[in-house]
Amino acid sequence: MDLQLKNKTAFISGSTAGIGFATAKLLLKEGAIVIINGRTTAGVNKAINKIKQEIPDAKVTGLPADFSHPQDIQTLLLQLPKIDVLINNVGIYTSKSFFESTDEDWQQQFEVNVMSGVKLSRHCLPQMLENNWGRILFVSSECATLVPPDLIAYSMTKTAVLAISRGLAQLAKGTQVTVNSVLPGSTLSEGAEQFLSDVAQKENKTKKQVEEDFFTNVRTSSLLQRFAKVEEVANTIVYLASPLSSATNGAAIKIDGGSMGGII
Ligand SMILES: NC(=O)c1ccc[n+]([C@@H]2O[C@H](COP(=O)([O-])OP(=O)(O)OC[C@H]3O[C@@H](n4cnc5c(N)ncnc54)[C@H](OP(=O)(O)O)[C@@H]3O)[C@@H](O)[C@H]2O)c1
Repeated sequence: MDLQLKNKTAFISGSTAGIGFATAKLLLKEGAIVIINGRTTAGVNKAINKIKQEIPDAKVTGLPADFSHPQDIQTLLLQLPKIDVLINNVGIYTSKSFFESTDEDWQQQFEVNVMSGVKLSRHCLPQMLENNWGRILFVSSECATLVPPDLIAYSMTKTAVLAISRGLAQLAKGTQVTVNSVLPGSTLSEGAEQFLSDVAQKENKTKKQVEEDFFTNVRTSSLLQRFAKVEEVANTIVYLASPLSSATNGAAIKIDGGSMGGII
């Protein structure tokens, strides 16, 4: 299927690894022009080299910026070309008891997970409206409604982006600009892979056993009963980023393997 993404310019926040990196590769394979992002120039260059080994004709560049540093964002916005597809993907979490999490924990997660998307969208949406075409996607999480007890601050940020996404879609009413959010479930990014390895080593188990324990004891509501691959999440993101998704707007799309429950 031709996703009609050839020569569309996309920016993905936090895309040197994980879901963002998988999304970048898929967009590049579709012929899009992709700007990737991470905190450092070295990290961004490393990711670009990795992509070019796999996709030699990839039209990929990078813009480093740490979304917890407002000055970095200012500089990034000055360098950003006209964007057709904005993917607000960057997200960090602190797993802590509510009673132990500090104001700084809350503020940092809010700054990176919420304000990154606010600032990038405020910059890109007017250009998209002028061009009468664009896609903005917010990467939320199953935690937006599951709210695990050790991730209350993170979950708050993931619920917040749903409201922002819906609000921006309403601002684009009647145009060919759409704004949606996606809610991935537990996904095997490098971070999750490391978590599985660490627990496996600590508890003298295999990674497979740790994964099974997680779905038996923690994420019991999952129908998938395994971690999703980053590519499985990227597939949905790239479809929503494409012209083919034109009738989906202001929506929150689950990629949660059924963990959030409910029929719709
Ligand atoms: N993995 C899951 O199970 C899961 C589930 C639901 C939702 N999500 C959401 O999906 C999104 C992607 O998650 P992921 O697991 O794929 O992430 P990840 O593997 O942890 O990806 C980390 C990426 O974010 C970048 N990054 C981290 N802090 C940054 C900052 N302050 N400024 C700029 N870039 C930064 C890293 O770049 P450098 O290291 O190069 O700086 C790297 O490219 C997040 O919003 C996450 O909340 C993930």
